[in-house]
Amino acid sequence: MKGIILAGGSGTRLYPCTISVSKQLLPIYDKPLIYYPLSMLMLAKIREVLIITTPQDNENFKKLLGDGSRIGMHFEYAVQDTPRGLADAFIIGEQFIGDDSVCLVLGDNVFYGAQMTDILGDAMRSIQNGGAAIFGCFMKNPQEFGVVEFDSNHKVISIEEKPRKPKSNYAVPGLYFYDNQVIEIAKHVQPSARGEIEISSVNEAYLQRNQLHVTLMTRGVTWFDTGSPKGMHKASGFVKTLQEMQGFYLSCIEEIAWRKHFIDDEQLRKCGEELEKTDYGKYLLSLLNNE
Ligand code: G1P
Repeated sequence: MKGIILAGGSGTRLYPCTISVSKQLLPIYDKPLIYYPLSMLMLAKIREVLIITTPQDNENFKKLLGDGSRIGMHFEYAVQDTPRGLADAFIIGEQFIGDDSVCLVLGDNVFYGAQMTDILGDAMRSIQNGGAAIFGCFMKNPQEFGVVEFDSNHKVISIEEKPRKPKSNYAVPGLYFYDNQVIEIAKHVQPSARGEIEISSVNEAYLQRNQLHVTLMTRGVTWFDTGSPKGMHKASGFVKTLQEMQGFYLSCIEEIAWRKHFIDDEQLRKCGEELEKTDYGKYLLSLLNNE
């Protein structure tokens, strides 16, 4: 399975912070936002990742993440010149995806939960014979998201993008698993009223084919959409508190790479030494001393 991180968009809800810098490069507490979605792909053991950015931000992402070899990953880069919608990721990424299945994660979504690895594994397994797997998260105000509608037997009957009157409280977070049909489906999606080819239309297409798996995320999973100053602040506070209370780091990509055996002790030490002056670097080195 391949991975795509969509890190485009103009981030207008975060102006003036994002006039000159991509939202996904801004910090969530102590690390760039993109580390969080990237870490989800790594937990799913997806090692080939396409990072889609705006033309002006592409070089900065390359500077931050390089070719991925530092953490035992393989990164490729592509640009989206105008924000045509999330489903555009599969058209831009057609060659990269090839004949494979694909996991798309949005560059501004932050997830945390001890069961994340199991949740990701289950989603991947559920589409082994085809189809799509998405999630539903309970939200008090789901209007700003894709929203799942259920019938009285809890069967999913629609996915609506930013409905004015949501038919449930379950919003669809920016983490999606698809088989290879997604490329063709994306190419046939009609732009919505806001002029974008919506991911919800892709999910609807899978639903029509009876090939959409929707898993409701349990209470143990926390999901932040960090598209606004409040969202970023909330996520930062959460990361800071958890890291300080529990003593381990969230979405620390070098640690995940090491625990999953993408890199060895020596490479982890190198990563730690590069950042030795920071708590982050010290944390990486402490992993070696503690184990
Ligand atoms: C996008 C999707 C929406 C999804 C959300 C998750 O919204 O269109 O279905 O629920 O991401 O973050 P956008 O961030 O483009 O407004």
